[in-house]
Amino acid sequence: MPSLSGKRKLQAIFLVLFVTSVAYAKITGPDAGYTDAPGDLGNCTACHDTFEVPNVGPGSVNLSGAPSVYNPGQQYTLMVTVQQNNRHRFGFQLTALDQTGNRAGTLASVSSDSQVNPETGFGGRQYIEHTQIGTLATGVSSRTWAIQWIAPSTDAGTVNFWFAGNAANDDDTNQGDYIYTKRVSSDSPTSAVTVSLESQLGGVVLTAGSQYMLSWSVTGVSNIDNVEVRYSTDDGATFSISNQIFFTTDPSVTSVNWTVSNTPTTHGVVRVLVGKKSGDAVQALSRTFTITGDGGVSIPAISGATASAKKLFVYGQNFAIGAVVELNGDEQGTLNDDNDPSHFLRCKKAGKKIAPGSTVTLTVRNPDGTGSAPFAFTRPLE
Ligand code: HEC
Repeated sequence: MPSLSGKRKLQAIFLVLFVTSVAYAKITGPDAGYTDAPGDLGNCTACHDTFEVPNVGPGSVNLSGAPSVYNPGQQYTLMVTVQQNNRHRFGFQLTALDQTGNRAGTLASVSSDSQVNPETGFGGRQYIEHTQIGTLATGVSSRTWAIQWIAPSTDAGTVNFWFAGNAANDDDTNQGDYIYTKRVSSDSPTSAVTVSLESQLGGVVLTAGSQYMLSWSVTGVSNIDNVEVRYSTDDGATFSISNQIFFTTDPSVTSVNWTVSNTPTTHGVVRVLVGKKSGDAVQALSRTFTITGDGGVSIPAISGATASAKKLFVYGQNFAIGAVVELNGDEQGTLNDDNDPSHFLRCKKAGKKIAPGSTVTLTVRNPDGTGSAPFAFTRPLE
């Protein structure tokens, strides 16, 4: 065998150096492409194969700081934590991908315990991972790395963070280590939030005081901030706050049993308004329906009151013969001997219990037990 020329010797030395540096690179940070994301080469168990599959050990890998809905272009600090009792050496690798598997946003290290692998993968995907000095435990049997993610500058749809962690036994080999993998997602700002009313109500006649189940369905739950239900008595022109039926910040609640209000109308409309964490609210409107009293049961309602010396007068509708005015819950001597008794009640002495400038709660109760909504009455200063 001819002796190696000077140039070949140099090449051989370079080859050895290269191989050494690749092997050394294992501990100084994994090769690109082992987060277990679709399109990756796999996960760390490709080499750390004592336990052939990930997530079989008593530890975990987790991510915190990922926004449930990201703002395009905004910078976030994410925390990757690997934890397992009695382990003191840890490692990780993470990539951020859109739903087609391409790189989503920009990953960067914020300290010497992590690094972005210079090698990128499928779709330009970046890999951020531990450095050699970033493998020591920082917590009790755990390590947390703070890393930076800048969200894509425009809405890139849902972003998935794929990551793998190694709870290593610190023997400087790829044996005896437990590998964990996980995925966390961050929703797109326009993550389609939709709402539709299951109860269309078109042409329905509802009786005041009866119960009616309103139900709806939503999509994009992770991007929902709140759900509010109101009704209108003017074909949906206005939905006043006093016509609020329901409010929740729990998007998994999708129905409410509505005690139909005593607001007779042939122009009723129900609205379900869904507020998003980001972006404009979306709504669903019912068709037009009617609210009536059911003939027998008509619920009294107070529209106004006046006091004059000892006397108190109460105005409204659906006052039955024998209706009684209640003042802060106490029944008052009540006369309904007016020529229009369903709209006018008179109390000869209740007025002296209301000092000028004070506010009381009035209700009217019919002999059948139905009561009006409370009415706040402030007696003017005389
Ligand atoms: C291509 C093979 C290979 C892959 C894939 C790989 N490693 Fe390693 N890793 C090694 C080898 C080999 C070592 C031993 C040290 C050395 O040779 O540098 C090692 C060592 C380590 C150590 C120190 C272990 C100890 O007990 O001291 C950590 C931590 C580590 N790797 C983390 C990871 C993580 C996290 C992943 C997945 C994201 C990963 N490795 C993927 C080959 C690999």
